[in-house]
Parts: sequence; C-alpha cells; structure tokens
Amino acid sequence: MNLLISGAGGLLGGALVKLATARGHACTPLNRSQVRLSLAASAAEELDALFANVDHFVHAAANTNVEHCEAEPSACHRDNVLLTELLAAAARRCGVPMTFISSTGVYGAFKTTPYAEYDDARPETQHHRSKLRAEQLVLAAEWSNLVVRTGWLFGGGAQAPKNFVARRILEARAAQDGFISSNQQQRGCPTLVDDLADRLLDLIGMKARGVFNVVNEGNASRFEYVREILSLAGVAVEVRPVAAGQFNRIAPVSDNEMAVNWRADELGLPPLRAWQTALADYLSTDDMRALTA
Ligand SMILES: NC(=O)c1ccc[n+]([C@@H]2O[C@H](COP(=O)([O-])OP(=O)(O)OC[C@H]3O[C@@H](n4cnc5c(N)ncnc54)[C@H](OP(=O)(O)O)[C@@H]3O)[C@@H](O)[C@H]2O)c1
Repeated sequence: MNLLISGAGGLLGGALVKLATARGHACTPLNRSQVRLSLAASAAEELDALFANVDHFVHAAANTNVEHCEAEPSACHRDNVLLTELLAAAARRCGVPMTFISSTGVYGAFKTTPYAEYDDARPETQHHRSKLRAEQLVLAAEWSNLVVRTGWLFGGGAQAPKNFVARRILEARAAQDGFISSNQQQRGCPTLVDDLADRLLDLIGMKARGVFNVVNEGNASRFEYVREILSLAGVAVEVRPVAAGQFNRIAPVSDNEMAVNWRADELGLPPLRAWQTALADYLSTDDMRALTA
C-alpha cells in the first residue's frame, strides 16, 4: 500500500511509519508546509496532487496541546477542524480512503465507567470539541472513512520532550524530597503507540469503517500509572496521590478518559494486550533501559 501520513514526525506518526515500512508499505509524510488553508482552486489543486497514487491517507497531525487549545480556541479549531476538513475533502475528491485519529477524550465526563463506541460523545474542552467536529467532517466526507479514538499514548524515543514515561522517570530521579505527586482522580487507558499502529494497519487492511476505540486493555489512574512506571523502571521513589486541583490546569479535562474496544471485540478482533505488559515491554527497550541505568 502507498500510505500518505500527516503528523509523521509526531509520536504516533513516527511509530506508524516505522511499522508500516517494516511491513513493506510505502509511506509518504504530509507536512504542514504542504497545506494551504484556503478555498482557492489553486490550493485544492495543490492538495489533490499530494493524493495522486495514494491508497490510504492517515491523518495523525493535530494540535495536541490541550491547554493551548483551551487558551487559544481559534488556533485549535483552525489546526484540528479546518485542516481536517480540507484534507478530508481532497481525499474524497481523489477517491482516497482516510483514517482520522481522534481521542477517547471526546466522550466527556458523564460516566464513571469506561466508554464504548455506542456511548454519546459530550466533549468538555476546546481540544476535544475540535476532535469530535473533525470526526464528523471526516465521516460526512465519505461514510466508509475510519475514525480511531485513542488516549494516553506512550512510546517513541526516550529523549522526546512529550514522552510521558521518560519524563516521569527523570522527574522521580531528580526528586529532592524523595517523592513525586500524581493525580489519583483522572483515569484512562495507557496505550503503547506501537500497539495502536499495529491495530491501525490491521483495520485499514480490513477496510474497517466508522468509529473504533483503540486502547490497550485495562485502565488506571494517573497515580497508578506513574507508580507502575517507576516500579518497572526500578526507581525507588515514592509516588503520592493528589487531587486534580493541585495541577492548576486551564482545560476542564474529564476525570474519565477510560474506554473499551467494544466494536473490535464484537467484530471478533483479538484483544490488545494489557497496558502493564505493553509498558514493561517498552521499558525493556535499549533506549529506555539507558534512561534508567
Ligand atoms: N498523545 C496522546 O496521548 C493522544 C491521545 C489521544 C489522541 N491522540 C491523537 O493522536 C494523534 C497523534 O498524536 P501524537 O501524540 O502523535 O501527536 P504529536 O506527537 O503532538 O504530533 C503531532 C504532529 O502533528 C503535526 N501538526 C500539528 N499541527 C499541525 C498543523 N496545523 N498542520 C500540520 N501538521 C500539524 C505536528 O507537526 P510539527 O512537528 O510540524 O508541529 C506533529 O508531527 C493526534 O490526532 C492526537 O489528537 C493522541
């Protein structure tokens, strides 16, 4: 397959390019400099040229800074909605099927148990509202497009600034008082990007359509997640549970970002492995071992 991938330099995009290439697919990155946010016919022609000879387009680029999105909603909706709308329209014109990467955060905060795809989506932040709007545009452009909702991604290089696992290890190693604090209220499903990329390629290969949750099995509070990271990494620093209010965030992020892969389960796909197993595997990579040595 010839895959066109936006956000190829990001956490998920990088993992997807690596895995798809290893499986013999050709991957072409689509960069921000190649897309003009304009209704001009010339801009559409430029976009259409990018979709020539493409078998599938994966739109993994997004403004992923939830706090920035809350403070600057116009920039958020430009990056996440207008961009997606133009790309989905181009894919539709060129007859290229598309996958949009979304977030389990779109479900919102109206349940205390994990969300399935049949639950309502009632997002509470600008970021998650923009992701839901973009989902709707992608599915309206072509009913057979695919939307994948995921969350709490980890993986990639140890030095990447957004690497949550590496950051917590470094934070713990630098802890002056012998402890670090973590949110015990918010729950989600830590998910290894490589496992997500693997399931994505499977879904694309099967021509799956509509909305799928894709997360590793199980769930945890941020506190339980961080405690597991430090335990597996062999860092003997205490993790203290604290309330969400301690973190002074602008965006009203839901305490419940948990999900289950209900649709994949019902359709007979094998379950993804438990997040603890994926995390242990990830921490045993050379890159991450060097961080904890
Ligand atoms: N990370 C998570 O925990 C998480 C959770 C739920 C959903 N997701 C979704 O998963 C997808 C991938 O996330 P990620 O964690 O891999 O993100 P990431 O590491 O922040 O990478 C985002 C990528 O998008 C590109 N990008 C951002 N704004 C753009 C724009 N306006 N035009 C073109 N490219 C733009 C960035 O390019 P530059 O390098 O040029 O900035 C970067 O390559 C996103 O759709 C995100 O919403 C992620």
